[in-house]
Amino acid sequence: MTAEIISGREVAKAIREEISQEAAQLKEKHGITPGLCTVLVGQDPASVSYVTAKGKACQELGMKSFHHELPEQTTQEELLGLIQRLNQDDQVHGILVQLPLPKHINEAEVLYAIDPNKDVDGFHPVNVGRLVIGEEVFPPCTPAGIQELILRSGTPTEGAEVVVVGRSNIVGKPIAIMMLQKKAGANSTVTVCHTRTRDMAFHTRRADILIVAAGKAKAITADMIKPGATVIDVGVNRVGQKPSKKDPSRMVAILEGDVDFEPAKEVAGKITPVPGGVGPMTITMLMRNTLRAAKLRA
Ligand code: GUN
Repeated sequence: MTAEIISGREVAKAIREEISQEAAQLKEKHGITPGLCTVLVGQDPASVSYVTAKGKACQELGMKSFHHELPEQTTQEELLGLIQRLNQDDQVHGILVQLPLPKHINEAEVLYAIDPNKDVDGFHPVNVGRLVIGEEVFPPCTPAGIQELILRSGTPTEGAEVVVVGRSNIVGKPIAIMMLQKKAGANSTVTVCHTRTRDMAFHTRRADILIVAAGKAKAITADMIKPGATVIDVGVNRVGQKPSKKDPSRMVAILEGDVDFEPAKEVAGKITPVPGGVGPMTITMLMRNTLRAAKLRA
């Protein structure tokens, strides 16, 4: 039987409506409008488009959006100076420094300089620590989006075998920790696979919930999936270019996930597409974290 497609676009739309209502209530009751400040160093095209999308999402949800665009040659001290000013700015509840940063900048030092109570990315060690001990304030956005997709697709997690492929600090490690917590929407038995795993298929075939963040197109083939499993594909691989639907004179990237989608959907029970699966959830979770940061202030 063909799998049910989990639409990240639809789930994100529903959550954005909830966030928008809560943001309006916060304004009415406490006179606070949640504000997110993005910082972009240099002009990496993918980063420019992510940052633009984040600003647009703020506006759509009735939040304030601030943006600092710094030249590629910006020094470590200049960037740290800006972060200190944003830490003090009462209008800014969330700070997001777009990654990757230019090579001459010490990324860790920059991320650690952000006030943990404004760290809506959830990358500061204080927030990573809070996540590990189950006192999360700002869960990192992509893992938070994955967990919402699992929950809202009606997939049971209690006692489920969850297999995560990939061990990055941004996706693999945090989602493994989140699914392990003694909480609703988690309570799973978690296995993490990575590039040194001996027999990947042995593990993935046991998964009731398979979360793939391998960074490699078609890394997971249909024979590696347990029939009826829920498959979450976090991959965004640019495999070519095509003319844009809206404006055919402009070329846009052809995106492919880490899962070989067409054959996989004949085996899985539920599966996320790429694009339109995890992607739309990430910015939505950033907006939710920004709302949380503003509520902390209230
Ligand atoms: N670059 C790619 N993804 C992300 C993200 O989630 N946060 C930040 N700050 N930079 C990114």
